This record gives sequence, C-alpha cells and structure tokens, in this order.
Amino acid sequence: MTKKTAVGLVGVTGYTGMELARLLAGHPFLDLVRATSRQDAGKTLAEIYPFLNGSSLGRLDITRPETRDLASACELVFLAVPHKTAMVLADELLDAGLRVVDLSADFRLTDPKVYQAWYGVEHTCPQRIPEAVYGLPELYREQVKAARLVANPGCYPTSAILGLYPALAEGLVHTEDIVVDSKSGTTGAGRKAVLATAFCEVQDSFRAYALGRHRHTPEIEQECSKIAGREVVLSFNTHLLPINRGILSTIYTRLKVRADSEDIRAAYERRYANEPWVRVLPQGALPETRWVRGTMYCDIGLAADPRTQRLVIVTAIDNLCRGASGQALANANDMLGLPEDAGLGMAPLMP
Ligand SMILES: NC(=O)c1ccc[n+]([C@@H]2O[C@H](COP(=O)([O-])OP(=O)(O)OC[C@H]3O[C@@H](n4cnc5c(N)ncnc54)[C@H](OP(=O)(O)O)[C@@H]3O)[C@@H](O)[C@H]2O)c1
Repeated sequence: MTKKTAVGLVGVTGYTGMELARLLAGHPFLDLVRATSRQDAGKTLAEIYPFLNGSSLGRLDITRPETRDLASACELVFLAVPHKTAMVLADELLDAGLRVVDLSADFRLTDPKVYQAWYGVEHTCPQRIPEAVYGLPELYREQVKAARLVANPGCYPTSAILGLYPALAEGLVHTEDIVVDSKSGTTGAGRKAVLATAFCEVQDSFRAYALGRHRHTPEIEQECSKIAGREVVLSFNTHLLPINRGILSTIYTRLKVRADSEDIRAAYERRYANEPWVRVLPQGALPETRWVRGTMYCDIGLAADPRTQRLVIVTAIDNLCRGASGQALANANDMLGLPEDAGLGMAPLMP
C-alpha cells in the first residue's frame, strides 16, 4: 500500500472543519494527523463528532494550533479559520516549507487595499498575495497544481462565478447590467453562537442582509473582470435561508445577442464539456439545493427571456462542500498530484 500524505486541519471545530473531517475520513491518499481547536484541545475527534466513532480518525487527539508542531507532522495544512488569523498562520507554515490551502478570504483579493476596504483590517502579509492561486478548478486547475498557497474561493463567489463564466467568456451578456441575487443556508455564517443565526431567529422565515455591501462582492467582480477582459461592476445581494446547507443564486443579466435558451445552453455545455463538477441542466430544468447537498456539483439552469432580453442564470451549490471544504480538498489533491476527485463522493446527502 502506498504511504498516505500527512495533512493538518486548523479549525476542526468550525462547520468547514467538520465538513473536511467528514471528507478526509474516507480519503484514500490523505491522512489527517493534526486537527486543531483552542477550545477543544485535549478531546478526541469522536468526542466532538460522534459520526467518527469506530474509525481511526475518531481517536485522533485535537491539539492547539502551533506552527512548529504542524510543520513537524504535516506536508499540507488546511486553514479553516476566520480571515485575519489565516494570513498569519499561512505565512508561518509557508516559511516552514509546507503547502497551504486557505479557506478564508485572506489571499483571494489581489489588491491588499481592496481587502482593507471591504474587510476593515490591514493586510499584514501582502508579500504572499502574488503567489496565491485562486482555487476554482474550472478556471485555474493548472496553476493550482504548481501552487504552494491556494486561496480557496468563497461560497457565494463560487456560485456566482461558475454561473457567469460562459456568458461572460463568450460575450453573450452586457457586463454593466448584472444582478447576483443569492440565498444561503445558515451554516454559511459559521458555527459560533450568534443571536441572528439562532434556530428561532432563522427557521420559518426568510430575510435579506448586507445588500450591496457583502464582502464577497469584490471577489466576484475581480474574477468576472478577468473572464470578461474588462472591469465588471455588479450588484450582489444576499439572503438567509432557513436551511442548514446550500446556496441558490439567481443571476439576472441582459443579453447582448439574439439567442434562445437552447442556444445559450449549448454555449454553456461547450464551456463545461470536460468539467466533472458542473452540470448544465436540461432545457427547462432548474437547480435545487437538495440535489447538490454534500457534493462538489454546481448545477446550472438557464432561462432566456426574449420579451425582456434577459438571461436568467440559476446555480445551486453546497456552501460547505463545493463552496468550501470539498473545493479545498480538490485543490489539495491537485497540489499533491493526486486525482482531483479523490475522497469526493458524488452522491448527494439525502434527504
Ligand atoms: N461556513 C461556510 O459556509 C464557509 C464557506 C466558505 C468559506 N468559509 C470560510 O472558512 C473559514 C472557516 O469558516 P467556518 O464557517 O468553518 O468558521 P467557524 O464555524 O466560525 O469555525 C472557526 C474555526 O476556527 C478556529 N479558530 C477561530 N479563531 C482561531 C484562531 N485565532 N486561531 C486558530 N484557530 C481559530 C475555531 O476553533 P477555536 O476557536 O476552538 O480555535 C473553529 O474551529 C472562514 O474564514 C470562513 O469565512 C466558510
């Protein structure tokens, strides 16, 4: 049997950490040897995640996040921690010769001034930004394979960029009239206790938040501008759904060309022909969050409306899997020369 690659996970007790633990438990080539939490250090993984009872991973002791310890044990580390914390840890781990997949926003934006403007904190590690590769496989797979630092995309940006990519790349829509209307399940807000995301505040209701000022806006604009070859400024608006997992984005654009839904679908099919994680749905079908739960799939539905000259694009992803931990694992696989889909099952978590 070939030796497995030792990996570490900083922030195992968060939602993205939990999802990474779930995926790594079944990974054929990676061995999770360090999992950290400051609050739960000393417990075993099975104590906090009973689903790991009976597996060797369940017996792993949770440790405190210490760079020297991680560097002595791991080849690659996933940072599933809040922004600002990640940039400090990434810098230290890269100095120690490790590879890093950062799930936070710290290395996604190429301009540290834009980071400061939207995140309200100074970037303390701008010298590392140029070496970070934005880890969206459909756009940057080859660069990820050679990267030491991957900036894992945000959940909302994954749903928006994949939805807009063919339309922008093929010049089908006007770049100055795009509205991304996204709805996320509550795990998107993280696992810490906050009144606004408590059960009774969320269930049986539906609300908008952070209209026009969500931090993922510059990330979506940055990547859409690269695809379109010109500056894209768009309206990005977010809503909180009373479900655990999933993002549904409805993207309103204005068609530049006379085309019906079937022509547009053909263009999307061509762009994603060799992409295993993107499913362009049959004519007339629209995505639902439940069919992508726990998977890497981004499902895309398209509706061209000749009456208003609109192209409406609907995407569904799982925010924790495709929007965070699954994508991070696909990136780690690519960085380590493993099959990109290793450890990433295709069947949705049901119901
Ligand atoms: N939730 C999503 O859907 C999603 C999607 C894409 C990206 N992300 C990004 O992924 C990252 C993690 O998100 P999450 O939702 O999993 O967050 P979370 O549920 O709030 O968990 C954060 C984790 O980081 C640890 N942590 C917090 N502060 C730390 C520090 N200063 N040093 C070391 N460890 C620290 C926490 O454990 P201790 O406090 O015990 O150490 C905990 O395990 C964030 O940057 C988030 O923006 C989240």
